[in-house]
Amino acid sequence: MNYEQQIKKLAAEKNAVILAHNYQPPEIQDAADITGDSLELARLAKEAKESTLVLCGVYFMAETAKILSPEKTVLIPRPDAGCPLADQLTPEIVRAAKAAHPGSPFVVYVNSNAATKAECDITCTSANAAAVAASLPEKKILFGPDANLAAWVQAQLPDKEIIPVPPNGGCPTHHNFSVRDVEIARREYPDATIICHPECSREVQLASDMVGSTGYMIRNCGTEKEWVIFTEEGIAHPLRKKYPDTIFHVMASAVCPNMKLIDLSDLYVTLRDGVYPVQVSDHIAAKARTAIERMIEVSK
Ligand code: 13P
Repeated sequence: MNYEQQIKKLAAEKNAVILAHNYQPPEIQDAADITGDSLELARLAKEAKESTLVLCGVYFMAETAKILSPEKTVLIPRPDAGCPLADQLTPEIVRAAKAAHPGSPFVVYVNSNAATKAECDITCTSANAAAVAASLPEKKILFGPDANLAAWVQAQLPDKEIIPVPPNGGCPTHHNFSVRDVEIARREYPDATIICHPECSREVQLASDMVGSTGYMIRNCGTEKEWVIFTEEGIAHPLRKKYPDTIFHVMASAVCPNMKLIDLSDLYVTLRDGVYPVQVSDHIAAKARTAIERMIEVSK
């Protein structure tokens, strides 16, 4: 039996479901039962019937799964798979922003740590950020930690005032793309449609033809014959699988090192030994759950 077959066998024996984010290495996505974007993984974590969830992604994704399914065992094969964006917004920064803007709700991107979510009113993902902000009656909304996503939401909702907290938060992998990269891609692939993730800078969003989450890309990038994709390069695998006759260009240098930590041997050991269980304290989980469930309710 190869690794993938052994992993599938172990998962069945242990009543485990393997969830993988769209940026995971191809072999992890292929070994998973289900792949998806952040919002889809959160929903699946809540609905899964299995007693164990194995989350192949970064740590905040596994934390979100545990918060939504506290009665289940949630395992992450590499607990060191962090997120530099999540670390840019601490609970203290949220409290200070709320004190400076009394009455303004805080929309927190799911790319945040559980203790930070616990201080916020509602979470969002890149798939539903504008809908979440639009669902709030207040005009002035605090939003973090991704300032580029905040700018994207602001552009969708001109009647709201979206305040990015911190003012310059961002994902290093996405923030690295420049307008020059988009211009070069246009020259090199004149027939391609260019789509970027809303974590890219506002300038890159404006220079692109379309903006969308990884789930949006997978649902919609079958409409044209050739695409240039500005997001983490792992997205190429599910796109090429779903649309084998379509040409996808991704930036080979756009690699999130944390998303690429998990390999098949880690996944095998996770299932064999039950490592590494994710824990979130009851007090933090209860508050963070309210914020995440509010988002799920808005996105129904
Ligand atoms: P998606 O919500 O599009 O899956 O993005 C997740 C993410 O971490 C982007 O860097």
